[in-house]
Amino acid sequence: EKAGYKHFMQKEIYEQPRAITDTIRGKYSLDDGMVYLTELEAIEDRLKVIERIQIVACGTSWHAGLVGKFLIEKFAKIPVEVDIASEYRYRNPIVDGKVLFIPISQSGETADTLAALRLAKSMGAVVVSICNVIGSSITRESDGTIYTHAGPEIGVASTKAFTTQLATLYLLGIYLAQLKGTLDKDERLRYIDALIKVPEDISSVLTLDEKIEELAKKFKESRNFLYLGRNINYPVALEGALKLKEISYIHAEGYPAGEMKHGPIALIDKNMPVFFIATDSHIYEKTLSNIEEVKARDGVVIAVATEGNNEILKKADYVIYVKKTVEETSIFTTTVVAQFFAYHCATLLGLDVDQPRNLAKSVTVE
Ligand code: M6R
Repeated sequence: EKAGYKHFMQKEIYEQPRAITDTIRGKYSLDDGMVYLTELEAIEDRLKVIERIQIVACGTSWHAGLVGKFLIEKFAKIPVEVDIASEYRYRNPIVDGKVLFIPISQSGETADTLAALRLAKSMGAVVVSICNVIGSSITRESDGTIYTHAGPEIGVASTKAFTTQLATLYLLGIYLAQLKGTLDKDERLRYIDALIKVPEDISSVLTLDEKIEELAKKFKESRNFLYLGRNINYPVALEGALKLKEISYIHAEGYPAGEMKHGPIALIDKNMPVFFIATDSHIYEKTLSNIEEVKARDGVVIAVATEGNNEILKKADYVIYVKKTVEETSIFTTTVVAQFFAYHCATLLGLDVDQPRNLAKSVTVE
């Protein structure tokens, strides 16, 4: 079952290049630079007139939604709100027929997400779900579904479901941009081209497995961790922190790096490791200043940076390099580094990564 891997989580981390290839297969053309989502054909007219988007999900799927906001707003220029399902369903959301409601769920059975969907639908929203399980409750109640083709995810800690959700949101962003006319052909081709390279980008991170294990050996006894990132990599910081919490039981918080000085900086001392996502981006210099601020207070810095960035070696205590990509696809490589790090911390501590305490794979009750 585990095909030679020690744990399902490890197998599922390694399956990501294949899972993403399957998820995007047949959905784009390099001839005309178009994304084709035939599953949405029947509701295309309704999608053309939407003015706002609401993405709703829980846990890791909510983190995917936060990334989705960056991608959709950047590509299609449609305002996107992202909510945690258990909040949305009890907060009187403002919904009408001009709202596209996107529930994201690996299982398609999460009770809060399903309840939020029913609420939005009853108020007139068009519902397009992103889901990994064919025929699940959420897909049955949606107007359309884009399936992630991650294959069954057994490990309680979501890995390949997350990265396939990201790939799907990326495609959806370009698709909506086509409907709205917000990206020209060259821009679409550039983004599609970057997405096609993602399986290869992730494969290159898979070769860092042992290196990241060595790093985990140094940090597995830590009791706290901060994960910081900016912009599109801020949700990756949240996801990295959630992975570490879930399977290694090390307390970890994810924050936008710029928020550090509004509170969390008070926590920094020599016992506080900080995991920075500091890949090349229009905002890299700002993240670098945050690294300096942590170092000035004796914090220990692990940085995920882009290959060729030698300057960061002088600032961070440990650097993990990932391939250079466009900013919008850096989320894939940085995520996989964070997945490995959590996986190794947990297994080195002798914990059951596939079935962490107190957690269920599918949360079908409130
Ligand atoms: O099946 P769903 O995507 O709706 O599940 C949502 C969350 O329960 C799930 O992502 C949870 O946070 C995972 N344990 C994360 O690793």
